Amino acid sequence: MQRTLITAALPYANGYIHLGHCAGAYLPADMYARYLRLRGHPTLFVCGSDEHGAPITIAAEQEGISPRELIERYHRANAEAFARLGISFDIYGRTSDPHHYTVAQGFFLELLRKGYLVEREEEQFYDPVAQIFLPDRYVEGTCPHCGYEAARGDQCERCGAYYNQLELRNPRSRITGKPPVVRRTVHWYFRLSAFQRALEEYVERHSRDWKENVLQQTRSWLRQGLTDRPITRDLDWGVPVPLPNAAGKVLYVWFEALLGYISITQRWAQQRGIPEAWQPWWTDPETRYIAFIGKDNIVFHTLMFPAMLMAHGGYILPENVPANEFLNLEGQKFSKSRNWSIDVRDFFADFPEPHAVDALRYTLAANLPETRDADFTWQEFAARTNNELVAILGNFVNRVLQFVQRHWGGRVPEFAPVELLQEWERCAEAVWEGASPELSSAWTAEERLFLQELLQGSVHIAQAYEQFRFREAVARTMGLARAANKFFNDTAPWVTLQQAPARCARTLFVCLQAVRSFAVLCAPIVPFAAERLYGLLQLPPQVGAPNDGVSGEDLWRNAASPKLPVGHQLAAPQLLFARIDAERIERQRVKLYGGAAPMNTSDALATVEDLQRLGLRIGYIVHAEPIAGTEKLLRLEVDLGTERRQLVAGIAQRYAPEQLLGRAVVVATKLKPARIRGVESQGMLLAATAPDGTPVLLTPEEQVPAGAEVR
Ligand code: MF3
Ligand code: ZN
Repeated sequence: MQRTLITAALPYANGYIHLGHCAGAYLPADMYARYLRLRGHPTLFVCGSDEHGAPITIAAEQEGISPRELIERYHRANAEAFARLGISFDIYGRTSDPHHYTVAQGFFLELLRKGYLVEREEEQFYDPVAQIFLPDRYVEGTCPHCGYEAARGDQCERCGAYYNQLELRNPRSRITGKPPVVRRTVHWYFRLSAFQRALEEYVERHSRDWKENVLQQTRSWLRQGLTDRPITRDLDWGVPVPLPNAAGKVLYVWFEALLGYISITQRWAQQRGIPEAWQPWWTDPETRYIAFIGKDNIVFHTLMFPAMLMAHGGYILPENVPANEFLNLEGQKFSKSRNWSIDVRDFFADFPEPHAVDALRYTLAANLPETRDADFTWQEFAARTNNELVAILGNFVNRVLQFVQRHWGGRVPEFAPVELLQEWERCAEAVWEGASPELSSAWTAEERLFLQELLQGSVHIAQAYEQFRFREAVARTMGLARAANKFFNDTAPWVTLQQAPARCARTLFVCLQAVRSFAVLCAPIVPFAAERLYGLLQLPPQVGAPNDGVSGEDLWRNAASPKLPVGHQLAAPQLLFARIDAERIERQRVKLYGGAAPMNTSDALATVEDLQRLGLRIGYIVHAEPIAGTEKLLRLEVDLGTERRQLVAGIAQRYAPEQLLGRAVVVATKLKPARIRGVESQGMLLAATAPDGTPVLLTPEEQVPAGAEVR
């Protein structure tokens, strides 16, 4: 049976996983993995933390801790968040694993041996103050293409252009804020250009099965012509370049992180005690490899990684790279710095009840950013939970179980005539051969209608998963639950109970089979609810959980068949889902809007209230001293009348500490405290920018008392 390897982009261990990440890659990947396992396919789902590169070192610096401490904190937290969310990785590894170093270095040496790496002397930005070469993420400047002023060293966040850092206009170091100088250094380049033709063929082979957004971006890169890429960096945090003349150099984080998929799979095999068990997943041409990612990772997975694998030889290539667009939050981009985010961790802190995780998964899954950006709102979370999970799916299950409990003591009622069951089974087989189910006239019109929908639905949902149309799979699943409710209503068992008991029993028999169908069909979306549902049915739970990549029974194919035997005893009914009340949603909205820093884009102008929220006040500097190891930073203590605050201010180039004592300044008092170089700053000084870029303090023209409001 078809073996499928699934990977999801390794998230940087530099922050907490938020809902945007989940909707981008992890939830769809999990739904796919669970679906395939329910089909009985051998499936392996691999992920882990990406723990190197500038994203890690910059975050560590900002938090004033070491990269090692940073990755420990976030690796752990994110592994736990994924587990609570039911993301069913077979392994969640990490790239700081020594085994990963061995794999990445071995891969590098093999490419070198094969002549795919070339050593080149090149010019790069160097920060003369911090005395280090500046990797792309350490440089900021104006985008050479669109003029965006806060563009990163290698890629513009606004227009998406990629460029060489030397092309940036007005470059500045993100460490010291100073303009860098250009210096020579040696790096190894991967000869990506050698794979232009092979990659073109590879991509065109997939012109019909890859998503439009993925093809478009990939083709546009191919059209521009692939250039060789440096895969080493001057940094001390990362996988060292395994060569004698490469001291102080590490492998470029993308080069080694992509190999993390392989090294982590090997780790999985080692943990099972069968070290070679990783091989079929990566080397057998019969294996399908599907790489789930968000849209910012596309070309790394459709061009760079395949080229690396071809260069090395012996590996299979991604068969599909289903990249999602972005999820927004209440109409705006997720942004950690602006505090506009919902971390999975925070969600669980506020919604600890077991039903909530399914409600979250369902809401995200129903609205995945599959073909365009999507939006998560708290309103929608409540509406989807209350109006769909509770009112449709939960309601159907509960009505049926309650009815059977009350009138048959919780046992599956009689179905007559039994021959019809064989017809049902036959149709359930036939739909998989593409036939439309033809139920004979021995069935009632309502039964025919509903069973045909159920039978065909199970096939259509399967097709949707197979074609990575997850939103459609979710909509169809809920559509079936709607049809089931309608069947219950139209057949009115509470009426037939007295007038035609055999008919009533038959109705409930059909309904109970449908309840079992939902346990299977819903498992990829709401695995925890599915597990509870199996419990209510007194059946062993089968929700597509990790199973060591072995093959199994195709449960999906039988999902719509009548598998619950007459007389089977059910457990006492319990509600599958719970409503989320408006008040809790309102609290979340207040938390979100109240805690967010104001937007800094022209499409959302600030209001007077926004200005007031900064809490601008006059303070008097009562203490000032330099912060050791920095050029620009001073530690200040400011008297605000009612309290004293410690601030970190980047004003040392212009002001000596003794000049500042007794001086009145404007302080933003309601900012979230920040740690700068390990020192907490409980607010911020306002300063104007002089033509040379240095800050000039704002001071009131006349004497005003400490704490005076600034408006
Ligand atoms: N850490 C990267 C990101 O969050 C993704 C790395 S995916 C891998 O954007 F393939 F490199 F592992
Ligand atoms: Zn740009």
